[in-house]
This record gives sequence, C-alpha cells and structure tokens, in this order.
Amino acid sequence: MIKNKPSLKEAQKRSASLINNIEDALYIPEAIVNFGNNKKYMVITYGCQANERDTENICGIIELLGYQKSEDENECDLILFNTCAIRENAEQKVFGKIGSLKKLKQTKPELIIGLCGCMAQEESTINKILSSYQHLDLVFGTHNINKLPSLILEALQAKEMVVDVLSIEGEVIENLPSIRANKNKAWVNIMYGCDKFCTYCIVPYTRGRQRSRLFDNILNEVNELVKDGYQEITLLGQNVNAYGKDLSTPSSFALLLEAVAQSGIPRLRFMTSHPWDFSDEMIAIIARYDNIMPFIHLPVQAGDNDILKIMNRLYKIEDYKLLFDKLKTCKKDDLGISMSTDIIVGFPNETEEQFQKTLALVDYCQFDNAFTFVYSPRNGTPAAAFDDNVSLDVKKERLARLNNKVNDCFLKQNQRFLNKNVKVLIDGYSKKNKDYMSGYSEHNKLVNLKAAESLIGKIVSVKITGVKSFSLEGELVE
Ligand code: SAH
Ligand code: SF4
Ligand code: F3S
Repeated sequence: MIKNKPSLKEAQKRSASLINNIEDALYIPEAIVNFGNNKKYMVITYGCQANERDTENICGIIELLGYQKSEDENECDLILFNTCAIRENAEQKVFGKIGSLKKLKQTKPELIIGLCGCMAQEESTINKILSSYQHLDLVFGTHNINKLPSLILEALQAKEMVVDVLSIEGEVIENLPSIRANKNKAWVNIMYGCDKFCTYCIVPYTRGRQRSRLFDNILNEVNELVKDGYQEITLLGQNVNAYGKDLSTPSSFALLLEAVAQSGIPRLRFMTSHPWDFSDEMIAIIARYDNIMPFIHLPVQAGDNDILKIMNRLYKIEDYKLLFDKLKTCKKDDLGISMSTDIIVGFPNETEEQFQKTLALVDYCQFDNAFTFVYSPRNGTPAAAFDDNVSLDVKKERLARLNNKVNDCFLKQNQRFLNKNVKVLIDGYSKKNKDYMSGYSEHNKLVNLKAAESLIGKIVSVKITGVKSFSLEGELVE
C-alpha cells in the first residue's frame, strides 16, 4: 500500500513561510495501545547524530506501545533500520543487512521489518525496495516519525508493504517520547534540515529545509537534562551557525550557546559548524565559557578555491584558514582548541594540483581529527550531473595519500597531551580491552585508563602516559 512516495523534485522546493512548532503530535490508535507487551524490538541506526537522536525518539515511541529492546534479532517482533544516504557505501551496508533478514522473515512471517531515515526519502531507494526487497513491511521517512504507532498498526493489518514518505517537511514537532541512549551525555536538536545546498550533498533533500526549534523549547530540554544529572550536552544541527535565522523572532546561535552555557551543564559541545557565518560573537562566547569544550568540528571539504566554488561551499580557503587560526587560539587553554574536519577527495574533475592544495591545507591546519571520504555521486544532487574525468582508482589512491597525512597529524597533535593532566568523562569499559575504562577528554580525545566502575559518568583528572594516533592512555590522578 503506497500512501506517499518521496519525490526529490518536491523536496527541492523551499517556501518562505514560517514553520510552526507544535506540541504533542503523537497519535496512538486504540488498537495498538499495549500491543507490544511481551514483544521485542530493535532499531539498527546508521549515519550521523541526527539519526542517533531520531532513534532515541523512535525507541521512546515503540516502548510506549509496550515493546522491549532486544540485542538479538532472532527474538524480535519488530526490527527497524534507521538509514543514512550520504554515500553509496552507507546504502550498500543497509541493503546487505536487510537482505540477510529475508530468511528470518520467512520463518517468522509476523515479524515487522521497517526502513526509515534518509534512504527512505530517496525515490531510487523506494523503487529498489519495491522491486527487490518485498520482505520489508514498512517504509516511513524523516518527516513522519510521529505517525509511527499508526504505521505499525497499518503494517500489521496490511497484506502488502506500507510506504508512507513525505517529501516536504511539516511542523517542528516537540515533546516526542524519547529513550536516551546514554545516561550522562545527551544530544539536543536545535534545528532540523539544511538550506546550504552543497552541490554533492543529499541532506537538504532528505531532511528538508532548515527549521529551528524555539529558543525556550531548547532551553527547557537543556534544563531538564541538567536537573537529571547529565554531564554533557551536544547541540545538534547540520549547520548550527544558522540557528534562529528562520524563526519569526530571529535569534542567533551565539545567544543560544551562551544561554545553554549558563544552564550549569558541566560540558557543552555543538556540531556541525559550517565555516560560513561563524561569527566573532560566537568565538567570543566559546572563549568566555569554560564549560564550552575546546573542540570544534569545522568541515573544510577541499583545499582548492575552484573546487570549493563548484561545491557551493561559499568560502575561500583563505577565509577558512583565518577562521581556523582565530578558533585554535581563542581560549586561554595552553593546549589550544582541538580542531577536526571533513574532507572529500575526487570531486568531479579534481586535478592532482587541486588535490595537492588539500594536502597543503592539512599541512597548515594539522587537524586533531579528520573524516575523509571519496566523493560519491548522489542521485538528484547537482554534482551527480557533472561529467567526471577522474577514475575511481585515482580517487582511492588520493584518499590513501590523504589518510597517511592526516594520521601523522593526529599522532603529532596527541603528543601535546603527554604528561599533561586532562579531565575525562568516563563512559564505561573500553570496547577493545575490558581491563580498561574509557572516556573522552575536554579536547575530545579518547582516553583509556584503569578506573573503578563507580567512576562511570564522573569527570575525573587523568595524567596522560601514552599516546597513539587515535587514543591516549592515562592514569587517574588521586
Ligand atoms: N552538515 C555537515 C555535514 C553533513 S554530512 C556539514 O556541512 O559539515 C558529513 C560529511 O559527509 C560532509 O561534511 C562531507 O564531507 C561528507 N559528504 C557529504 N556528501 C558526500 C558525498 N556525496 N560524497 C562523499 N562525501 C560526502
Ligand atoms: Fe550537506 Fe552542505 Fe548542508 Fe552540510 S551544509 S548538510 S554538507 S548541504
Ligand atoms: Fe546520513 Fe541523513 Fe545524517 S544522509 S549523514 S543520516 S542527515
């Protein structure tokens, strides 16, 4: 039953009308109340923090119906894939995993398998699912999570797959239930969607136009988290610098950041900042508040001005360097601010000379961390229509050269912490070695150390005794 199919053309439309914030948009049909009692579910999440946060809402809704979370897909009655469309390999992973559930569905026909998130917003994905993944029961998008109870009911009653994906975003929906994945660190959405339209990027189509949450709604959520003892908040948006510009009473990220910093939350982070619109006012506030962590993710994407221009990134590399230098030294902290970035190699027709400029930028910035990608054409984006004379082999080889360089930077940057005392928020047992605990320092470095279980969720002082490219090792300072 196809109720609504996504259209990228529709999703490109941007109206100037203001978007309402609405409360309590969750509707639970009588027939599904308590339906999940004694039933198990699982949500498998891919992609960015926007998806992680959506999954927390999805879990909140599902648990309201009575379902309980499970780690074992074989015992589940409901399995949802919250997906990411940012690159082709992200999508292939999902298709692989969904394919592997076909057998389970055959042996357990009452199992509901659903797909949501950014892939659901793509016409091409929906067509592929309809032709090759008929064992899916439900597909819904990023704009109608609040309809999940009715959609599960429809999927249970229908004899065919239920597809309900809206191309155009509706209101900003407040007060969805939520089960937070972490008891000490919380994501807080400050805005949805993106209006930047970088030419390679699918997000403006899968997530819709930029919509800011109301200032007071964000602060109320923050104050609740502080009251509940949370140690860290990360403010989320695809481009947090543009926060508030779309509200009827325009606001700014600088104002919001300051208000959240004053809430008493021990640690405050935010992501992602676009280098465009990173105001001096924002920098002054980052400098002023000790609980705004000395770590900034500032995606650069490329080191060449012509490539940046065709990417529609709006800044020149000279602007980026200027901003980078201002940020790096804006706090009184003698360890400087940690800076990370995102870089795409192999954008259509990128020359070796242009790629060399990306390497030169890395030499200049000496990033603390960098997420590096081979350009992946996304259906419906402007760049997907560009001719491209660079082979995949050349792109992969450029990625390998870039990775060698950034890895050297990571190690070099980590060395500045050797023998220094840093503050670490302990997350729990290390994933790699259960004899160790791990957590993140203020500069967002993963630190492994020996510590008592009772310290989970606490911020402790640690002396750094060992340094690797991707982590630090340390000892508790009594
Ligand atoms: N809103 C954030 C980034 C969101 S996507 C920002 O603007 O910084 C995360 C990263 O994925 C991007 O920074 C970019 O480096 C990468 N990315 C996006 N689209 C891509 C594509 N088509 N191919 C390869 N990498 C891509
Ligand atoms: Fe994509 Fe650019 Fe928006 Fe980031 S700012 S989400 S890269 S369009
Ligand atoms: Fe992926 Fe959607 Fe985030 S495409 S990166 S999950 S906004």
